[in-house]
Amino acid sequence: MSQLHHLLTFPSRPVTGDYVTSVRKLLASGIPATYTLEQVAAFEKNGTDEMSESASNTTPLHILARSLPLDLSEDETSVVLSLMDTLFEYGAGWNFIDYEDKTVGDLLVERGQKKTGALYQRVVDAGVSAELLLRKLNGGEIEFLEDPQHAEEQQQQEADSTADNQQVYLSTKLEYNENALVTRENRDGVMMDWETHIMELAANTICRKDAAELTVLNIGFGMGIIDNFIASHSPHKHYICEAHPDVLAKMRADGWYDRPNVVVLEGRWQDSLNALLDQGSLFFDGIYYDTFSEHYQDMLDLYDVVVGLLKPDGVFSFFNGLGADRPLCYDVYNKIVSLDLQDYGLQCQYTTISVPTDQQWHAVKRSYFNCDYYYHPQIRFR
Ligand SMILES: C[S@@+](CC[C@H](N)C(=O)[O-])C[C@H]1O[C@@H](n2cnc3c(N)ncnc32)[C@H](O)[C@@H]1O
Repeated sequence: MSQLHHLLTFPSRPVTGDYVTSVRKLLASGIPATYTLEQVAAFEKNGTDEMSESASNTTPLHILARSLPLDLSEDETSVVLSLMDTLFEYGAGWNFIDYEDKTVGDLLVERGQKKTGALYQRVVDAGVSAELLLRKLNGGEIEFLEDPQHAEEQQQQEADSTADNQQVYLSTKLEYNENALVTRENRDGVMMDWETHIMELAANTICRKDAAELTVLNIGFGMGIIDNFIASHSPHKHYICEAHPDVLAKMRADGWYDRPNVVVLEGRWQDSLNALLDQGSLFFDGIYYDTFSEHYQDMLDLYDVVVGLLKPDGVFSFFNGLGADRPLCYDVYNKIVSLDLQDYGLQCQYTTISVPTDQQWHAVKRSYFNCDYYYHPQIRFR
């Protein structure tokens, strides 16, 4: 363990400003704020901190969070906050994963820090700033720095994957089973019925008006769960936009095309909704968005369409799985979405609900939601 790492285990109490002075001195002398325990171990073994193979990066911030005294006083909390500020000032990363597959956020929560508290929020804010800054460089996605050495390989896998590449997805065969819609070959979960309660909540959010006046749009049919909830509100007009041929076939077989109040918009929303915008005569009381194999950049593009199609008192919502493979990342996206929507004159309110953690992931290749809470967004013009 290096001197920097040792200091961040808080060997003496109380935690005073002396810690900040000492840590700053070490960082100013050239010790990187990202210096990991794995690098120390490699140095001790090989005389160089170049690592051949390591999936984890246990950074000084992880050590600080892991060592945080449980009985931290208010004064000590301010000092720890200054220590975090100092580490970030010297380039500490917010999204590294440590030897126990944990983020700094996970460790802070384990040490009794509240998510609304200053220390957790400091990491979230670092994530938001970093993400906003890096967005243009890496295409709008937050990347967890688990395995920098294999980044290229990972990028190639993503380019070929149904979950990340829309062209690949739209030409992949799908399969409906009892409680999920999956891609036939590689078992990517497109939709799963554990989301039913979320879909019910979402339908209630966008179907607030009297049925006789209600015109709503759902983007992404999937298993039709939300569309069935929407239908139970008997809307005057119910638009459904869907791109995948297998899903459209299922909708036809199940009679959605024959319902008098339903309009099916076939094709990608990027095409059909822009055509609606061009017509300039149709506006919605509620819009819901839940697609697959799209990225946050697509949502940014969608905001442009939403502001053109939503009535002044309308509500927009979406399936909020952004960054939900890690709680810290989910919390960072929560803020980013609110900030981005502000630029469109929209305001996002979240309702937090708990979700079961025992979802049936065995039916699919990988889980796409790893938080035990869900931020349900309700978005309106300010
Ligand atoms: C997660 S499912 C939607 C689940 C739905 N909310 C439900 O309650 O069952 C995503 C759906 O979006 C469709 N989709 C993906 N990209 C799309 C796009 N660009 N435009 C329209 N639909 C798209 C997929 O084919 C899939 O049917």
